[in-house]
Amino acid sequence: AKAPSIAAPLLAWYDGHARSLPWRAPPGAAMPDPYRVWLSEVMLQQTQVATVKPYFERWVARWPDFASLAAADSADVMAAWAGLGYYARARNLLACARMVADRHGGTLPDTEAELRELPGLGTYTAAAIAAIAFGRRAVVVDANVERVVARLFAIETPLPAARIAIRDAAESITPQRRAGDFAQAMMDLGSTICTARAPRCLLCPLRGDCAAFAAGDPARLPVKAAK
Ligand code: ADE
Repeated sequence: AKAPSIAAPLLAWYDGHARSLPWRAPPGAAMPDPYRVWLSEVMLQQTQVATVKPYFERWVARWPDFASLAAADSADVMAAWAGLGYYARARNLLACARMVADRHGGTLPDTEAELRELPGLGTYTAAAIAAIAFGRRAVVVDANVERVVARLFAIETPLPAARIAIRDAAESITPQRRAGDFAQAMMDLGSTICTARAPRCLLCPLRGDCAAFAAGDPARLPVKAAK
């Protein structure tokens, strides 16, 4: 599995199969709204897509941008979050919106390093926003991407030690262009085709480049360390 052979077929697949999600711009169209990308990525940190969708829709109807959210009451924000869990995320959302409003003129910064400075944005979220909202080349690795990469490269090291090799491998296949589409294509592939228990390899656009498929037992990877 190497760079040119992964990104091109994956992006072609994404152009036809991207999930239609309310925070995305259609593939190939204009960039999505950074506020919506930021909000969705924070909501998706520990919560599934299907659960996030209705919360996301209600949230953007009520607070459509950083300025309106920055002006919101903390109690209203916490109430709108109720049910999503991990309430530090809601407190950080409000703190982040206020920081963007006060210190960044209402516009989210567009580099991974600056995004990392904002409340609630860690390695994954800063990379995801930089790539998806701003088209920056960033290495975006969540649990779905981890599984896809571990299989593509047949990484046998158990998690969590494998994360170093997985990150290097993900870096090696991340394209210079369309890094945001690439990241979301990897996530969609991981959640719809390269699933944990029963990967649908016959539908996979990367089957021909997948070391785990070639070896015959992709569902075995990634290996988890014995507890
Ligand atoms: N999980 C986290 N971010 C996502 C995104 N942008 N698309 C699909 N699944 C995701």
